[in-house]
Amino acid sequence: MIEIKNNIYWVGVKDWDLRRFHGHELSTFRGSTYNSYLIKDEKTVLVDTAWSPFKEEYVDKLEKEVGLKNIDLIIVNHAEIDHSGSLGYLMERIPDVPIYCTKNGVDIIKKHHHKDWNFNVVKTGDSIKTGKYELVFVEMQMLHWPDSMLTYVKGADLILSNDAFGQHYAAPALFNDEVDECELFQEAIKYYANILAPFSGILKKKLEQIKAMNLSFDMIAPSHGVIWRKNPVQIVDKYYEWCQDYNEGTVAIVFDTMWEGTKKMAEAIAKGLNEKGKKCKIINASVTDKSDLVVDIFKAKGIIVGSPTVNNNVLSAISVVLEEIKSLKFKNKVGAAFGSYGWSGEAPKIISQKLTDAGVKVIQDYIQFKFNPTEEELEKCVEFGRNFAEKMNE
Ligand code: FEO
Repeated sequence: MIEIKNNIYWVGVKDWDLRRFHGHELSTFRGSTYNSYLIKDEKTVLVDTAWSPFKEEYVDKLEKEVGLKNIDLIIVNHAEIDHSGSLGYLMERIPDVPIYCTKNGVDIIKKHHHKDWNFNVVKTGDSIKTGKYELVFVEMQMLHWPDSMLTYVKGADLILSNDAFGQHYAAPALFNDEVDECELFQEAIKYYANILAPFSGILKKKLEQIKAMNLSFDMIAPSHGVIWRKNPVQIVDKYYEWCQDYNEGTVAIVFDTMWEGTKKMAEAIAKGLNEKGKKCKIINASVTDKSDLVVDIFKAKGIIVGSPTVNNNVLSAISVVLEEIKSLKFKNKVGAAFGSYGWSGEAPKIISQKLTDAGVKVIQDYIQFKFNPTEEELEKCVEFGRNFAEKMNE
């Protein structure tokens, strides 16, 4: 137990070894944490739990340091298994303790755990007095699940935000001012781009609603990663930027290649972009971690995607990237396509169509050359890059 505020403790778990999350979908190269909090007021309140592989470690620690029979109520801000996975093991020991969560939370907990515990539904504005403190609930529907909510601890100026403002980042320290700031923000934006980006419109409205509530706070404690103690508004401001069609004006050239024809085209396009002063990245999708690649796409204003044509289609790594761009619902981006081909040459046309389907505005016709591009053809790719840079500025 580590005290984060007067009589409020972090009682979570650090998962140093985690490298994949949501099954194998998301990379977590810096591990993660499952933050759980304990409020020792006149009532003792447990907020969220930990992922099931840690249930024994987590519950045994609570028993030793708090005494399970001393827990008066449990808040489930979010029922996803990384936060509610230990609930079953905990409730076997204290089956009658009331659980407070949203209406959707009850449904999701029941579907995961198949138990009818002592549920108490809360909605935005509802509160519970615990003694000196008062817990105020704010529903965060679809941020990122239907049941998500945050708990504001009135009297402690503390927001327990669950997934929002979190990072998959295990550090020996607990607070943002005790860790490497670059690493922290890299993990925070990776979390946002990969998990929260599709809900940016909802998030913007929610941040405005919370702002209008005038909650006085000086600490935001999410359910993953470090706690925002130093200038916690900075991450709220970042989220407000990120949720509004965010980009940094850069270009991501994402490609795959078989015999380096498409790779040479990517390099020539980058040359043209650079000549016009555009910062760009060349990313080979087949050898790049998908979750990190998503961050580069999230930061980019322009997405230029290239693939050779294989079996009348694009290479599989490019298929995955195009699907990811679509499902993450990135907004306000422009794009184009390119690739080398041998005979049929469908790939750039398919890419252009899929970019359009994903909401990316294709601002110029695709370019493609047969097999290994000549010097003259590569010069046309440089020109393609220059034109793209100019069109981005229009
Ligand atoms: Fe960290 Fe949505 O669970």
